[in-house]
Amino acid sequence: MNNSEKNSNRRSFIKSSALLGAFALTVPAVSFSNSAENLNKKRINKIPMRTLGKGKSAFKVSALGLGCMGANYHRGRVPNRQKMIELMQEAVEMGVTLFDTAEVYGPYINEELVGEALGKFKNKISVTTKFGFDIQNGKSVGQNCRPEQIRKVAEESMKRLKIDVIDLFYQHRFDPNVPIEDVAGTVKDLIQEGKVKHFGMCEVSADIIRKAHAVQPLTAIQSEYSLMWREPEREILPVCEELGIGFVPYSPVGRGYLTGMLNDQWEFYPQNDMRQDWPRFQPEAMKENYKLVQLLIDFGHQRGLTPAQVALGWLLNKKEWIVPIPGTTKFAHLHENMATTNLDISEQEWQDLENEVAKIEIVGDRYPAEQQKQIRN
Ligand SMILES: NC(=O)c1ccc[n+]([C@@H]2O[C@H](COP(=O)([O-])OP(=O)(O)OC[C@H]3O[C@@H](n4cnc5c(N)ncnc54)[C@H](OP(=O)(O)O)[C@@H]3O)[C@@H](O)[C@H]2O)c1
Repeated sequence: MNNSEKNSNRRSFIKSSALLGAFALTVPAVSFSNSAENLNKKRINKIPMRTLGKGKSAFKVSALGLGCMGANYHRGRVPNRQKMIELMQEAVEMGVTLFDTAEVYGPYINEELVGEALGKFKNKISVTTKFGFDIQNGKSVGQNCRPEQIRKVAEESMKRLKIDVIDLFYQHRFDPNVPIEDVAGTVKDLIQEGKVKHFGMCEVSADIIRKAHAVQPLTAIQSEYSLMWREPEREILPVCEELGIGFVPYSPVGRGYLTGMLNDQWEFYPQNDMRQDWPRFQPEAMKENYKLVQLLIDFGHQRGLTPAQVALGWLLNKKEWIVPIPGTTKFAHLHENMATTNLDISEQEWQDLENEVAKIEIVGDRYPAEQQKQIRN
């Protein structure tokens, strides 16, 4: 059997396993080996690749990435550290090449965990991280995108992540005190010095994207986008399409809500879950918005899919240059999520779902007022 036949068999296996539901979804178990040398041999195109950005700024990554934040920061009880390391390494084995973290997650502890799990795979996979917060005494006290701060974060993040170059360095939040041209110019310098490969920004307006892109071409915009939050469709996705910038939806399963796992009875773990105070996760909002989850459950039920898979499949179908980064602390959810890179659902079916979703008015803001102020869109 030649390689293309093997890949085609592989794809049809994943397609049919995606139709079997959550517990039958796993791609065949591969025993984990610590050897980075064996990695390319074992990856065997299990997850298709996509390209963020174009020309010199193009960045080839797996069609889904792994959001690493929740492995120890603000998604409930902190799981066993070794298990989270194994989970990230399992994602590598499955063919995931894009892993997302940030200095401010913790701060620092998420990058340290990611470094411990993935440092040995440097140059084989990509870890993306973010600058932009002023961290004092272990707490974020606002924005700081001054050039010297960006440089400091780059150096310190590389140490924690055990890498020599940051594949994609995002501005995490816009800093009104620093001209965007200075931010883009600093990242441009870091790229020229070989410390950073690609430039990204999170949650900024189309106008800011244009200004930054004129100084240093952007590879990706990372913003919240899901069936629950479709604001990027208004201005951000059009500007990305026009300028050839990729888009990385964060919170693609609505911070867990779209999976059907959370409802108005859910008790958040108070010490480590910011969702507990957010408008959309209050019991009344969760009760009201369940209509949306029910739609995903029904759509998925007809096709052997879980609601999480419907949420991710819809995003992946939107554009070839969209690469969602769902987070999970469960091996089963990791496999379930990755299986959505090979769904076989027609454009018309997705459109019908979208039309039904559009009839639902979502209750509750996505961020509390203070955090919403940091967002420019
Ligand atoms: N740039 C930014 O400003 C920004 C902001 C927020 C997040 N992010 C990035 O985006 C990543 C993901 O965002 P997120 O964690 O906010 O939201 P998310 O990926 O939409 O949701 C994660 C939550 O969904 C649950 N989940 C995932 N897959 C599931 C499945 N198949 N079935 C049931 N539950 C499932 C996870 O619980 P289990 O652990 O139980 O699976 C977790 O609590 C983060 O890790 C971070 O890297 C970036």
